[in-house]
Amino acid sequence: MKRLLLTLLLTFPLTVQAVDLENGQKQARSCALCHGHYGQGTPGPASPRLAGTPAGYMVKQIEAYINEERINKRVATS
Ligand code: HEC
Repeated sequence: MKRLLLTLLLTFPLTVQAVDLENGQKQARSCALCHGHYGQGTPGPASPRLAGTPAGYMVKQIEAYINEERINKRVATS
């Protein structure tokens, strides 16, 4: 999970010069397993909706997971 998030974070374009949509789609495939094909999430705590979430909020949450300031108890490996 951590490696997955790190990969995603590293593939976020810091300066938007060329957006590689194909690669983004590939990276997001694993997220869709839980968050849904359209990021719609599932009812209940199983996985929250990501669609429509502000990009800044997403980046902050992913950084928090990487820094272990936020722990995802459902997918934590340690
Ligand atoms: C094994 C299932 C699973 C996979 C795969 C998964 N997630 Fe999650 N994700 C969850 C669960 C469960 C939560 C809520 C847990 C929590 O509150 O920390 C969550 C929470 C999040 C949050 C915080 C949402 C919020 O409202 O604060 C973000 C952002 C997120 N995931 C992004 C991703 C991304 C990007 C990927 C793919 C790289 C991904 N997730 C893959 C299960 C998953």
